[in-house]
Amino acid sequence: MGSMIIGVPKEIKDNEYRVALTPGGVSLLVADGHRVLVEAGAGAGSGLSDDEYRKAGAELLSTHAEVYRRADLIYKVKEPLPSEYDLLGEGQILFAYLHLAANPELARALIRKGVTGLAFETVELPNGSLPLLAPMSEIAGRMSVQAAMHYLERQQGGSGKLLAGVPGVPPAHVVVIGAGNVGANAARIALGLGARVTLMDRNVDRLRYLGEVLHGNLVTLFSTPHDVAEAVALADVVVGAVLVAGARAPIVVTRPMIASMHPGSVVVDVAVDQGGCIETSHPTTHSQPTYVVDSIIHYCVANIPGAVPRTSTFALSNVTEPYVQRLARLGLREALAQDPTMAKGLNVMAGRVTHPAVAAALGMEYQPVRPS
Ligand SMILES: NC(=O)c1ccc[n+]([C@@H]2O[C@H](COP(=O)([O-])OP(=O)(O)OC[C@H]3O[C@@H](n4cnc5c(N)ncnc54)[C@H](O)[C@@H]3O)[C@@H](O)[C@H]2O)c1
Repeated sequence: MGSMIIGVPKEIKDNEYRVALTPGGVSLLVADGHRVLVEAGAGAGSGLSDDEYRKAGAELLSTHAEVYRRADLIYKVKEPLPSEYDLLGEGQILFAYLHLAANPELARALIRKGVTGLAFETVELPNGSLPLLAPMSEIAGRMSVQAAMHYLERQQGGSGKLLAGVPGVPPAHVVVIGAGNVGANAARIALGLGARVTLMDRNVDRLRYLGEVLHGNLVTLFSTPHDVAEAVALADVVVGAVLVAGARAPIVVTRPMIASMHPGSVVVDVAVDQGGCIETSHPTTHSQPTYVVDSIIHYCVANIPGAVPRTSTFALSNVTEPYVQRLARLGLREALAQDPTMAKGLNVMAGRVTHPAVAAALGMEYQPVRPS
């Protein structure tokens, strides 16, 4: 069993309050005989003190640069920013959300430096699902209804409807378009709050399954433009949650559909990070989350989980830590050879682009790594 030095720097991206590893995760890695270096204050945004990390067995370092200099593996949440490129060293492993296809400058820096880049977002199970993206979709789906409920209130400019209704007054109608991770979680929370929910998708098997496992005032509906238009016209809340893997989100809700809604209703376009599935949506931030088009409130925050970093940090650390544990235990080569799910996360290594989709997006040569 090998031993590795794992470094957890503080996130420096604007408004990023998550941290890659919780104290509980530190204790697991330390028990395995590894050293974990945590930058002082790294957990503060998620309510985790330096003392908690220290008690779990981490060594606290006072500077960002020192974490980068001393660690074999840099374990963080978001991609490094330009000021961090030169802190990365040859042969160092970087495990984080990288989104290299959209960031050629970072891809070139990692290639130039000979960094091994493992991306959370391309770690892929044999059934094609993305286990390190799923928790963020779960959070975004659950938050979407919480946000919509808030903006339906009159003082927020909303129509003034209580999502749950009361005896003798019907509940609000929530239409969720796309029944994947985001949509299923939005529907679950809306049903739990007592709303009437219409859940739409083009995958009938998925609707069949969710129709069986979700309880409450739920209707499932096959998604055609005609049926989306009819449902949206009667909705108090629309949650847009469609995804076509690897593509820009298709526009499923058009501007005339928005105009047909009751004034003060709320639309949440969760798919806005993939271009949006509502014609009138554009990305917003937590400091200014909404705007109004045709009297309809639009909530289109591109990083919804950022509002709940405490939950997001634990959700992310829970699913990423086992990969770090395996990587540290087996060493890079052996971990990649033994774990095809983790191997899908490999984007760049020793100056080569090792992921086909990333190579295609960057117009670079795809050079797979053969397990040795
Ligand atoms: N804004 C945020 O903070 C945030 C956070 C997490 C995820 N997201 C985004 O939310 C979107 C959904 O993510 P997910 O994890 O639920 O994806 P997913 O793949 O689990 O689900 C997408 C669903 O959309 C369905 N679909 C495709 N075309 C459709 C159509 N025309 N009509 C109805 N349904 C259709 C698919 O059948 C699938 O069930 C993605 O764009 C993702 O990037 C945003």
